[in-house]
Amino acid sequence: MLTAMKFITTSLFFGSAAAFSLDMMKAGEYGAGLNRREIVDKTLAILGSAATAIISTPAISNAYSVPDLTYNYEALEPSIDSKTMTIHHDKHHATYVANLNKARDGKSDVPIVDLMADALEAGPAIRNNGGGHYNHAFFWAEMAPPDKAKSTKPSKQLTGLIKKSFGSMDVMKEKFEKQAAPGAVFGSGWVWVCVNRAGNKLEIVGTPNQDNPLMKGVIKDQIMIPILGLDVWEHAYYLKYQNRRTEYVSNWWNVVDWDKVSANCKYAVEKHAGVPMQG
Ligand SMILES: [Fe+2]
Repeated sequence: MLTAMKFITTSLFFGSAAAFSLDMMKAGEYGAGLNRREIVDKTLAILGSAATAIISTPAISNAYSVPDLTYNYEALEPSIDSKTMTIHHDKHHATYVANLNKARDGKSDVPIVDLMADALEAGPAIRNNGGGHYNHAFFWAEMAPPDKAKSTKPSKQLTGLIKKSFGSMDVMKEKFEKQAAPGAVFGSGWVWVCVNRAGNKLEIVGTPNQDNPLMKGVIKDQIMIPILGLDVWEHAYYLKYQNRRTEYVSNWWNVVDWDKVSANCKYAVEKHAGVPMQG
């Protein structure tokens, strides 16, 4: 919308300048008591005002965007079907981004990860749409087509943390699936594997709606740093799995890119901060 406004503003200013020049020229050299030099100077002054107005307009409106997938919509089949991916990425995620841009209109640009900590305080528009943008960008980036995903594996660091925190990968998956079951995250929400604030242990948590563990006030009294997350909103699986959320969750492991999760883990441990997202 702001782009359109800028266009109109620009057109009005430059239109005024052009009209002024034309009128003066039509009126004859001295029609308005101005000579050619004065007409040129006046026109340039109007153009200068236009430039100043455009430069001083707050730059926003399309600050956030839906990041492109690094694979095709059908690439995650059979775990996640092509139609679900298309609607989920192009419609659901795009809506969060559009509403976030609207909510942030006029404010300075900040990376989406930096909006997370105070999202609750910022109010529902930022909490829901900012969370929706961060969570989905995170989700697309941690997945890969099954053939590729199969060739990825947890790093030594991640393997060590999994062992220390859960005993084994199998136990971690079991706990994660339990947290992803409808009884644990009732209705819409997410399940996460997080690095704790101290950076020395992993925890599994569920969050409602589009909340995530980076938001102050969501998980007890602390912030945790997500390294793996699963969307358990019905829009993420209903077309293929209908009410069978458990089946969706267990098939989803086949498209987890453990190289990416390992990179997330490294970032979280080293920086003690949420992993930045594209878009
Ligand atoms: Fe979703």
